[in-house]
Amino acid sequence: MTTPSLLILAGDGIGPEVMAQVRRIIDWFGDKRDLKFEVSEDLVGGAAYDAHGTPLTDATMARAQEVDAVLLGAVGGPKYDDLDFSVKPERGLLRLRKEMDLYANLRPAQCFDALADFSSLKSDVVAGLDIMIVRELTSGIYFGEPRGIIHEGNERVGINTQRYTESEIARVARSAFELARRRSNKVCSMEKANVMESGVLWRQVVTEIHAAEYPDVELSHMYADAGAMQLCRWPKQFDVIVTDNLFGDMLSDMAAMLTGSLGMLPSASLGAPMANGRPKALYEPVHGSAPDIAGQGKANPIACVLSFAMALRYSFDAGAEADRVEAAVQQVLADGLRTADLIGEEGRAPVSTTEMGDAILAALDESL
Ligand code: IPM
Ligand code: MG
Repeated sequence: MTTPSLLILAGDGIGPEVMAQVRRIIDWFGDKRDLKFEVSEDLVGGAAYDAHGTPLTDATMARAQEVDAVLLGAVGGPKYDDLDFSVKPERGLLRLRKEMDLYANLRPAQCFDALADFSSLKSDVVAGLDIMIVRELTSGIYFGEPRGIIHEGNERVGINTQRYTESEIARVARSAFELARRRSNKVCSMEKANVMESGVLWRQVVTEIHAAEYPDVELSHMYADAGAMQLCRWPKQFDVIVTDNLFGDMLSDMAAMLTGSLGMLPSASLGAPMANGRPKALYEPVHGSAPDIAGQGKANPIACVLSFAMALRYSFDAGAEADRVEAAVQQVLADGLRTADLIGEEGRAPVSTTEMGDAILAALDESL
């Protein structure tokens, strides 16, 4: 069997710092579990713009298409705010998603026992929370045409288009139903069928796929605004939520914060299977580049570490090793280690990014 390949795109802001800890864990698997990866690194986002004048070079794009999985840190920063839209750091990430056709974005929102008190919601509302948002990632208003800023009469008009084809809805619905079968067998689909035709079609197609292929899964529908309200009110009513690109962007940030910190949550973006049977895949933390704390050793590496765990699970058939990483994270949190994002007002002294990495590696050693 050939050695599986990983492309690391650490990106901007805290991306390189949190990714450095993931590198140590990848090396640990090579040394201690004989699970070796051929790792290459490249630039994305503002870092790529600084070096090449584009947030993603064609060469990097081609490499991303070849490897078994891409691990991404974060992109963006205030330094790039005034750049032309076409070369903004975010365009690099959106190009990867689009050209790799990573249509199913899996965003788990899981409350770690040790952090239940840290949520802005009451701890009984979030304790034990484990939901999965499946966000459509390659279509909808993020990519629809026409788009742009045009002149009409004597004023400017900003235009974006929400557009979904039946097949785009069907394939992400299948991803959600498949996942639900491996979890609590429940899917809630969210759109705005009361206002948007794309929402009407979304609801129809999800209902048809359900009836034809997944009648054993419990399906419900909610308007996305009501869904947001229910997520705050009683999030444990949900198992898998499937929704479009823009609603998924917002609902997943909200769901993430329910659990205490955006610094904790990973994501997987999956496409169709490649020739070797593995899905096209990119793994990244849900959090952004956090320019306000970049370069200070304060960032929480856990979301990025858990993103690598998702890679082990979804790309490399190593579910037991993914469990091992997740258990190590649970362990260090239970031991009381906290990075700055997890320290409340009267909290104890936070540990640094590297110290959190040290502790996770120690917990991995203990697991052997
Ligand atoms: C996300 C981010 C991205 C998005 C940005 C960085 C383009 O917010 O992954 O949720 O809007 O999809
Ligand atoms: Mg977002």
